[in-house]
Amino acid sequence: PSTFPVWISYLWTSKAAYFSQQPQDQVVIAGQSVTLPCVIVGYRGMVQWTKDGLALGGERDLPGWTRYSLMGDPLSGEHSLLIDSAELPDDAVYECQATQAGLRSHRAKLTVLVPPTDPVVDGGPVVRLKAHTPHNLTCRASGAKPAAEITWYRDGEVMETAIYAKRETAVSMLPIVPEDSDSGRTYTCRVLNQAAPAGRQTSITINVQHPPAVTLSVQPQTVTEGAKVLFICAASANPEITGYRWSKGGVPIAEANGDSLEVTVDYSYFTDPVSCEVSNSVGSTNVSTLVDVQFGPKLLSEPKPMIVDMGMDAAFTCAWTGNPPLTLAWTKQGSNVVLSNSNTLQLKAVTQEDAGIYTCKAIVPRIGVAERDVTLTVNGPPIITADATQQAIKHSKGKLECRVGSSPPPDKIVWSFGDMTLSSGSSGRYSVHTVTSSVGVVSTLVLSETQAQDFQMRYNCTAWNRFGTDTALVTLKEQEALPMLIIVGGAVGGGCVLLICVITLVSLCCRHTGKGELNG
Ligand SMILES: *[C@@H]1O[C@H](CO)[C@@H](O)[C@H](O)[C@H]1NC(C)=O
Ligand SMILES: *[C@@H]1O[C@H](CO)[C@@H](O)[C@H](O)[C@H]1NC(C)=O
Ligand SMILES: *[C@@H]1O[C@H](CO)[C@@H](O)[C@H](O)[C@H]1NC(C)=O
Repeated sequence: PSTFPVWISYLWTSKAAYFSQQPQDQVVIAGQSVTLPCVIVGYRGMVQWTKDGLALGGERDLPGWTRYSLMGDPLSGEHSLLIDSAELPDDAVYECQATQAGLRSHRAKLTVLVPPTDPVVDGGPVVRLKAHTPHNLTCRASGAKPAAEITWYRDGEVMETAIYAKRETAVSMLPIVPEDSDSGRTYTCRVLNQAAPAGRQTSITINVQHPPAVTLSVQPQTVTEGAKVLFICAASANPEITGYRWSKGGVPIAEANGDSLEVTVDYSYFTDPVSCEVSNSVGSTNVSTLVDVQFGPKLLSEPKPMIVDMGMDAAFTCAWTGNPPLTLAWTKQGSNVVLSNSNTLQLKAVTQEDAGIYTCKAIVPRIGVAERDVTLTVNGPPIITADATQQAIKHSKGKLECRVGSSPPPDKIVWSFGDMTLSSGSSGRYSVHTVTSSVGVVSTLVLSETQAQDFQMRYNCTAWNRFGTDTALVTLKEQEALPMLIIVGGAVGGGCVLLICVITLVSLCCRHTGKGELNG
């Protein structure tokens, strides 16, 4: 703006005025004062300064620019610009102009440097960090010109891994993954630039926090049912532990709230874990353990009795648990043959001989044994068992027995002999009684008083069900004489012989003969 008057006035000036001192480029630190010299020889006219081309005014006290003034004796041509307590806005290009002589000084660049303020570390002075969790320690240096350099130190040692970023302020981030052992370490952020070569620094310490680290142990390791066991829940944490919670198989144990728990164990501790959950303000840790409780077989699934038609397949399943692991054996009652070692016993195309009781036996080595019986019933034709020869005394009451094993139960049982046929009720001297028991049906043909021809007859006992029929032929034999009884009785037992001598009639009951079977 002042250019036009300057070259106009230059035309009017004949005398040679000149600068004996001119302002030079200068650097000042904010807060300090600076003088830009300007001495013009052979000039009496108006002198004024421009800042970035803008005239500051003609008066020497420069109204409107409180920290600016002209100094020196104007009569000796001195018009130096004094800037008191420099600030960042003073950073500009200055020029001293002798307006009427058309003289302009050097364009002097005044650079104002600003030292950084004390750096600020986010979260300081004690930064709480979570263990093993990556974190950036962040240090900010604001207001500096030029921007501050930032250096991180850990316990006095330079950290090279910091990441520098210049935004509105200079920022440096130091990535760290704090470990528990880093707790208490000191990190220092130092900032410096030309305005503060000695630098400024701020230190912080880190407090590494972590949820409880827990180990749950059992004493003793291996026990039998009914023994006492001590669970010890050892934990370390920062900050301090706020509580313990115990549970078994997911069910809280309300009365337990310390770092140990004593219980009397049963086999359920083998399958339901006991857990200890330890908390602090950062988190909680839950640790579980099972107890090696040794126990004899416990039935998990009972085998179910089966009824199958002959020719079909049958299967039984039984399941046990035990510790140490058990072995399983299926046998059939009356035999030692192991039919299966697995939970399931498969029987293919069963016959009536397969009917019976099967045993599922579990053996926990050194601890115990248990077993369960289960019945297989095979549907098929009746099976009759009868003594081929049965006995009676002539002219007294006699009876003939026929035992019918049958599944399904027999539809009918018929006695036929001579020209008689009888299945129930009575006819003349004969009557039939049928008794059903767990082993089968017993049909008894009763003769109210035996006669000679009854001992000549063949008695035919026949049973039916929907699968078929079976027949047994029985004869009636006349009761033998007493001496024979003594011999037979003697073979059975001396006590019986004595008894015979005393009560002959009762002694008849002691008699045993060989059994015969007749199947149709
Ligand atoms: C730390 O800062 C770097 C650079 O800005 C960034 O890439 C990283 O994701 C930051 N890490 C965390 C944990 O904030
Ligand atoms: C601890 O964990 C176990 C198994 O995951 C769970 O059943 C139990 O409820 C937990 N305990 C607590 C106190 O949350
Ligand atoms: C026995 O009786 C049944 C039916 O009455 C008959 O079918 C069968 O042939 C008889 N058995 C004998 C050996 O007499």
